[in-house]
Amino acid sequence: EPVIFTEKDEMRKWSRSMRSQGKTIGLVPTMGYLHQGHLSLVEEAHKHAEVVVVSIYVNPGQFSPSEDLSTYPSDFHGDILKLKSVPRGVDAVFAPKNLYDYRENKKSEIMLIWKIRILTRKGWFHVWRRGEWGTKQGLELRDWREDILCGKNRPVFFRGVATIVTKLFNIVEPDVAVFGKKDYHQWRIIQRMVRDLDFGIEIVGSDIVRDSDGLALSSRNVHLSPEEREKALSISRSLLKAKSDAKIGLVNCKELTDTVVQTITQAGGRIDYAEIVEQESLEAVEEIKNPVAFCIAAWFGKVRLIDNIEISI
Ligand code: PAJ
Repeated sequence: EPVIFTEKDEMRKWSRSMRSQGKTIGLVPTMGYLHQGHLSLVEEAHKHAEVVVVSIYVNPGQFSPSEDLSTYPSDFHGDILKLKSVPRGVDAVFAPKNLYDYRENKKSEIMLIWKIRILTRKGWFHVWRRGEWGTKQGLELRDWREDILCGKNRPVFFRGVATIVTKLFNIVEPDVAVFGKKDYHQWRIIQRMVRDLDFGIEIVGSDIVRDSDGLALSSRNVHLSPEEREKALSISRSLLKAKSDAKIGLVNCKELTDTVVQTITQAGGRIDYAEIVEQESLEAVEEIKNPVAFCIAAWFGKVRLIDNIEISI
């Protein structure tokens, strides 16, 4: 039976008591509606820490007004059952009601969310855009790269993620936190943030879990119609094809991305981005020499899906 906390002070108290018993703490941050991808992160966390905490919080701060915050699926009871089914289970679940409690928050939660959305630049933990911040302040955060891939068309996304992950880290005080490589860019940004700001938390990246047909598991997949789902398989299939092409010497990134874009577009998808980037720096590359990640975001109907594949030749 996991202990369930909704209050951050209680959560922190529990973590500190575990710590004082000499136990290492692993954290798996999620937005709920759990699937096997999330559960694999829990299993990974057990390899790195003695107790495991899963947080469930749909973070309004990482959705822009046009995005699917209001339709984001949730099933708290189901989530708890799934967490119990994992070998070794989880020790605690942190499910706060609202973590944006640092503004005048007497008003209703809806007002608060609305305010956060318009005050995007004030009071946020800001992942600085490239070139915006000089070096004289002492921190050099420009190369966190919030302005590419998943940040390019979603200006509030990564500062919302960085804000909430920082808050979760400060509340749970974990030794290790596990992120899925499914959100490759997110994993790298968190890794970079933790390194640059000396959080002293080990960030583990965990492999993508796919359905038997290859579709990367995602809480958003429930919104796909059966036809859309079938079409969406073009993403994982074309990524696999690109990988095997690269392995036999087709290393020109423009050619590889053109082919993938064509395949997905023909299947009826609308590409948000398709880029081959260096694994750590996320710099775009022209030719595959060092290990890269081929990252894709595409819309099928009203659903935005992301996927990627790591390629080393
Ligand atoms: P969410 O989309 O719920 O994902 C939680 C974690 O599960 C992330 O680290 C994500 O990469 C991982 N994950 C999702 N699908 C996966 C799959 N098919 N295989 C492996 N891992 C998978 O990502 C978020 O929530 C939020 O941005 C969060 C980090 C919680 C901050 O709000």
